[in-house]
Amino acid sequence: RDEPVAGDKRVLLAAPRGYCAGVDRAVVAVEKALERYGSPVYVRKQIVHNVHVVSTLEKKGAIFVDEVGEVPRGSHLVFSAHGVSPAVVQGAADRDLQAIDATCPLVTKVHREATRFSRDDFHILLIGHEGHEEVEGTMGHAPERTTLVNSPDDVDTIDVPETERLVWLSQTTLSVDETMETVRRLRERFPHLQDPPSDDICYATQNRQVAVRKIAEGADLVIVVGSANSSNSVRLVEVALEYGAKAAYRVDYASEIRQEWLDGASTVGVTSGASVPEVLVQQVIDDLADAGYGDVKQVVTAEEDLMFSLPKELRRDLNGNQ
Ligand code: F3S
Repeated sequence: RDEPVAGDKRVLLAAPRGYCAGVDRAVVAVEKALERYGSPVYVRKQIVHNVHVVSTLEKKGAIFVDEVGEVPRGSHLVFSAHGVSPAVVQGAADRDLQAIDATCPLVTKVHREATRFSRDDFHILLIGHEGHEEVEGTMGHAPERTTLVNSPDDVDTIDVPETERLVWLSQTTLSVDETMETVRRLRERFPHLQDPPSDDICYATQNRQVAVRKIAEGADLVIVVGSANSSNSVRLVEVALEYGAKAAYRVDYASEIRQEWLDGASTVGVTSGASVPEVLVQQVIDDLADAGYGDVKQVVTAEEDLMFSLPKELRRDLNGNQ
């Protein structure tokens, strides 16, 4: 096969990529909590699904736990960006914990939809991945009235109570295409199925998928920076392959890029998931430049300027401090 000559080698860098507004807010919330209250500050689950972010915050004094029962009474506890069920909020109150809720406001929006539809006697079909923390939190808002739908193929086998009042909701970080396919099959089986009041797949997930499609079309290889448990990062690898990339891999760090991936590749696409700090992408760009891919073109498919204010418990204490 033809080896690309140096002049043929280039990088297409997707934009938007990396941090979304909900991740930025959650990470800053832990940093500000450490500054305001001192170490340790406890965090339930990974604040966002990125190994580098978690280890950086651990070095600053954050302690990550799986459940509220592990946190000493009276401590400060941050709930992660993926959200929690009302039972977890209650568990924290029962231990007199000072909770700081860093749930992304776009996840809270889905929680409110679940609560409202359940109160209005609807049964909810929640499209999402079993075991994901966001799914557990959302289902906890309507535990008796939610059925999880993992994939399009799940539609034929799920057990759903007889009711005219049926609505679908979804996890915020799914593949847009696959979710639409699941909805199409759900509607085939349940013609009276209602749509959610607005998109549950968030703007950041959608924008990153649109951007990776654009670079995937012409790429021999797409490198997605993101952690293995990051739903939206894993989806970016799948979308890149669906939209024409000859190969696509996910890495946490630039050092994981293998020489054999680059063999014969002239155009390399690069993007990152919504929980990934830009410094990790920059490391990939630097390493690729060392390998001869110094020609970097950014491909912009949308501009993002959304920002969320910090969790209210923290705003209150930070203001009180001034
Ligand atoms: Fe929120 Fe979407 Fe980011 S739900 S945390 S804005 S990926």
